[in-house]
Amino acid sequence: MAALLNLGVVSAGVYVDPITGFTFSQYDALYQLGKTIAFRIAIPTGVNSSSAFPVVIQVVAPLDVGWAGLAWGGSMTYNPLTVQWQNGNNVQVSSRYATAHSPPPSYAAATYELFKTGTGTKVNGTHWQYTAKCTGCTAFTGANNARVFLNPNGGNRVAWAFSSAKPSSPSSNTSSIPVHDAQNTWNWDFAAGANPQFSALLVKNLGHT
Ligand code: HEM
Ligand SMILES: *[C@@H]1O[C@H](CO)[C@@H](O)[C@H](O)[C@H]1NC(C)=O
Ligand SMILES: *[C@@H]1O[C@H](CO)[C@@H](O)[C@H](O)[C@H]1NC(C)=O
Ligand SMILES: *[C@@H]1O[C@H](CO)[C@@H](O)[C@H](O)[C@H]1NC(C)=O
Repeated sequence: MAALLNLGVVSAGVYVDPITGFTFSQYDALYQLGKTIAFRIAIPTGVNSSSAFPVVIQVVAPLDVGWAGLAWGGSMTYNPLTVQWQNGNNVQVSSRYATAHSPPPSYAAATYELFKTGTGTKVNGTHWQYTAKCTGCTAFTGANNARVFLNPNGGNRVAWAFSSAKPSSPSSNTSSIPVHDAQNTWNWDFAAGANPQFSALLVKNLGHT
């Protein structure tokens, strides 16, 4: 099943969000034939390759996606995992980090602030979507205790994962998570998501940077 559905990314580009105002680098992950999850990232302009920088992440998924995952270092283990799923009319984001191919525990070194429901975060008859600022997604302790800094000026190898089954306690960010049905990696052009107005847009959407 996993191998059969290991289909990868079908399109890439820049998405300018009229609601939040951010310019995102977008990748569409083909998780089933004809069905995609959009992963979007916005970063500040002018950050260098050896510093931790904040990101704004936006994910848009069809309602049949039980959970979607993003692995910031391109593998299941030794990198921050952003796991997200529908929770009624809202979206739950959970911060995880795995050291084995088993259910990933909580990860306190990455934190998320969701944009308000109705703006960057919403659920309608076909999709769930959220937008959040992540602090701690782009710099982390990787394999062999190496400090890893993602590159704001080019591509980073990341990975997605998908399950059609939902987490058992959708309203809890520590819910147990069923294993994925499909996953794949891609090279994400962070530079395409650079925003000169990053701080001002955070203030507009969150009330602070
Ligand atoms: C919830 C329980 C989970 C279990 C039991 C699990 C188990 C596994 C196993 C056994 C593999 C290797 C075999 C294969 O290719 O299928 C794997 C690979 C992978 N998993 Fe998970 N996983 C879980 C959650 C997650 C989550 C939340 C993510 C978030 C992004 C994730 C991302 C990946 C990725 C990217 C790979 C392929 C690269 C690699 O092997 O490191 N997994 N997982
Ligand atoms: C990178 O940015 C950090 C944080 O702003 C700064 O401390 C460091 O000196 C910068 N490094 C280079 C090589 O510009
Ligand atoms: C769950 O949310 C709380 C409150 O925002 C946060 O402190 C905690 O780190 C989160 N845990 C996970 C696993 O995301
Ligand atoms: C539902 O929400 C998604 C994601 O925000 C959006 O792409 C889609 O156009 C919306 N559908 C309707 C009918 O408003």
